[in-house]
Amino acid sequence: MNGRWQLLRKAEKHIFAIVMSTQPDNQFQAIVSHAKEYGFVFPSSEIYDGLAAVYDYGPYGSELKKNIRDYWWKSMTQLHENIVGIDAAIFMHPTTWKASGHVDNFSDPMIDNKDSKKRYRVDHLLEAKADQLREKGDEAGADNLLAQMDALLAAEDFVTLKELIQAEKIVCSVSGTGNWTEIRQFNLMFATQLGSVAEESDTIYLRPETAQGIFVNFLNVQKTARMKIPFGIAQTGKAFRNEIVARQFIFRMREFEQMEMQFFVRPGTEGEWYQYWKEARLQWHLSLGISPDKYRYHDHVKLAHYAKEACDIEYQFPFGFKEVEGIHSRSDFDLTQHQLYSKKKLQYFDTEINQNYVPYVVETSIGLDRMFLLILANAYEEETINKEDGSTDSRVVLHIPTKIAPMKLAILPLTKKDGLPEIARDLMNECKPYFKCFYEEKDAIGKRYRRQDAIGTSFCVTIDHQTKEDQTVTIRYRDTMVQERILMSKVKDLVLEQLV
Ligand code: GAP
Repeated sequence: MNGRWQLLRKAEKHIFAIVMSTQPDNQFQAIVSHAKEYGFVFPSSEIYDGLAAVYDYGPYGSELKKNIRDYWWKSMTQLHENIVGIDAAIFMHPTTWKASGHVDNFSDPMIDNKDSKKRYRVDHLLEAKADQLREKGDEAGADNLLAQMDALLAAEDFVTLKELIQAEKIVCSVSGTGNWTEIRQFNLMFATQLGSVAEESDTIYLRPETAQGIFVNFLNVQKTARMKIPFGIAQTGKAFRNEIVARQFIFRMREFEQMEMQFFVRPGTEGEWYQYWKEARLQWHLSLGISPDKYRYHDHVKLAHYAKEACDIEYQFPFGFKEVEGIHSRSDFDLTQHQLYSKKKLQYFDTEINQNYVPYVVETSIGLDRMFLLILANAYEEETINKEDGSTDSRVVLHIPTKIAPMKLAILPLTKKDGLPEIARDLMNECKPYFKCFYEEKDAIGKRYRRQDAIGTSFCVTIDHQTKEDQTVTIRYRDTMVQERILMSKVKDLVLEQLV
């Protein structure tokens, strides 16, 4: 939620049907295990027992992550002629974070359990309680609890908030007691020192969002790329937040990656651009073939003083509908603040109306890791296969859209002899400059198919003895498992057609 420090949760207006998750927790656990077993995501520095809420991406994970990033980058900067990209540094001048409000306000209210010493985010404790009420069918009770929480958070009334936690008999999951400390605010930024500690040094921060790198470069980009309003600046990169309660695998991490775009517009036109980006961003998600039923908008009703409109795009994860992307109409707040703190003009001369102004901004902000989790959760299926002889078989398959699948094509010679590997290698050499291919000779063909299904390879091609006769191969489609014979010379184009 953008501007989490504003402590605003809001009433919900959903465009799509609200469906609570029916998928059991163990499906999510299965996805997490699968991600590790098949080289998508590992706990960070696992040989030292890992680091909480920090993860590493493995061979297939790093490919998938890169493909999602590229797909976003292309849709933003290649398909929109008025959007250009930048790659700003993670470290920024410390005043940046003073101007943006992060030093003073980027914090969450926390409470500690005195017995277990475990720290909780207050809103997470109350939301978990509301979930429990819903599970028992008490929808009204859950809504009422969240409404009370919203009001108290907005008023920063931490005394009454603590009383609410106690009245609801919320206990620590570790100690099982309700022995709570007072509620306090914790800033989420990681601080470090610039330069040698012995010398004079300054506290700087690991950026908690990529957006500020765009704002401070507004004029550099506008002038050098000769951009005319309306135009956008896109950026992908790491962001860091000292999340106190980091849960749900890569959903909430301490080091994560954002894909953000700030769209600069003439004041007065921000409403129509907000609607445009709200719709365009949802369409981007749907362009990956994901069902619209899995998505809903969560419109913010209460807004920060500078915000005009804001909404989240939520996806139905196995643990419920959660934010994956935010669209925010941010007025001229950030540029004005940077103008104030830097004492440099951040204005645009609009030749169409002969006026100088600080542009208004509509922001789209999506977490790459969260999108990755969305893709995995959406793709994962444990399938039972009814065979022709009446028996059944099973497979785990990742239905990852071909456009972003880590591996597009597996090339599998049926045997290691009779010249079949040589033919397979020729096909490999023809295809691998264009897209990611996998070559394998080992094991029975059925076993090899299953391994490819598990990493989401869209197509498998088998080279057999008939290939030597008529230059045809068997192509197998991952999702349907349908197999057909096609000319080997057609394979490359068949895959390429799926990548546009
Ligand atoms: N510049 C606006 C901004 O940062 P945000 O709602 O705080 O807004 C945007 O974050 C997106 O970044 C979220 O929708 C989410 O996808 C992702 N995100 C935020 N915190 C995250 C975390 N701790 N771990 C993973 N992704 C996160």
